[in-house]
Amino acid sequence: MNINKALYVLSMFSDISSGSDTYHQRRVTYIAYRLAEELGFNKQGLSFILQSGFIHDVGVLSDASRIETFRQIINENFEQLTKHAVVSSKIARYFNLHLDVSNAIGLHHTPNEINPAVLGNILFLADNIEVSYRSLSNPFAFLELYDFVAQKSKLFDKDALAAFKRLSACEEFWYSLKSDNLDRELLKIVEEHIYETEQNDFIKRFAYFTAYAVDNLSMFFDGYSVLTKNIAAALGYKLSLNISSLILASLFAHIGNVFIPEDLINSPTKLEDDEFNIIKSHTYYTKMFLDMLEVKRSIKNAAIYHHKHGQKSSYPFCSTELSKCDKIIAVSSTFAALLQDRPYRAAYSNDEARDILKTMEFDKDILNITLDLDLDKIKKQKDEYYEGIRRLFV
Ligand SMILES: [Fe+2]
Ligand SMILES: [Fe+2]
Ligand SMILES: [Fe+2]
Repeated sequence: MNINKALYVLSMFSDISSGSDTYHQRRVTYIAYRLAEELGFNKQGLSFILQSGFIHDVGVLSDASRIETFRQIINENFEQLTKHAVVSSKIARYFNLHLDVSNAIGLHHTPNEINPAVLGNILFLADNIEVSYRSLSNPFAFLELYDFVAQKSKLFDKDALAAFKRLSACEEFWYSLKSDNLDRELLKIVEEHIYETEQNDFIKRFAYFTAYAVDNLSMFFDGYSVLTKNIAAALGYKLSLNISSLILASLFAHIGNVFIPEDLINSPTKLEDDEFNIIKSHTYYTKMFLDMLEVKRSIKNAAIYHHKHGQKSSYPFCSTELSKCDKIIAVSSTFAALLQDRPYRAAYSNDEARDILKTMEFDKDILNITLDLDLDKIKKQKDEYYEGIRRLFV
């Protein structure tokens, strides 16, 4: 797996999770990458700047105070900004990224004179440029933006600032920063910079992390992905199937929820048809993310077909032959949802949930095994990866 591309996907995921796409991390990454190129960084250095840029603010994923963060940058409250920088840096370490990357992230709000990290200084300047860029009423006021940033020149590394001066004189740089162009530019860059990981658990860590973030989108989803995964794994053992595929498919199944507005996810009342269509699109967006991540087809299918069972609930993909793995994720995610509170109903008891499952059109053999599972035991199963991620945000 190309780590640079995976982190680009995580960047998009986390930029979107604020409700509307800010493009902040992706734009900072693009600016930092162009500065690093201008400064003559080698291939490895460029990969490190991509990795640190993409997730430098991932620590605010479970923090509702993004606007506050924006204000703190404008007002140069660097001390208050360090909390999310430290959390993001811990997340980089959780992904086993290079120490230079986690250091740069931890120091991305630290001014030059007390910032010992070369990459951290570039990130700090790029972050300030991006925040200033978004405050511009005219995104084509290129030279004014350089002047604005240069007024605070004592905060920045002078070579990096000189590189920005050269870049800002080039209109192509500014066109690339526009939201319409940015993703295309970044995709091209990450495809040119393949940074393969030796560790085969990167994707597992990635899946756990996004599952945790998605479960945090609503208080009703608390631990939903892990409950789904525990049910799926229990079924997988009984049917002698590949457990790691089931784990990844369960954890990835709802990654697309990040595109669904919070008020729909948490709506206590019955949704109108057009609102329900938006909810249904979560599996479409799950497919979009998993396509970008180049996840194995069998895992991707199981994740995106989790609402397909029988004729009644086949949204949103057209009918297809389901594999055993697909059927397991469908029954597991439905069962897990029934066992949890939702904004419009309380959680069902184990027996009530079983009775509801029986009325649905699941594969008969899989359903029978599901009905026999020891649910109390499954509900109690904690997951170290998941709990570890929870601790990163504390
Ligand atoms: Fe930040
Ligand atoms: Fe930032
Ligand atoms: Fe779903």
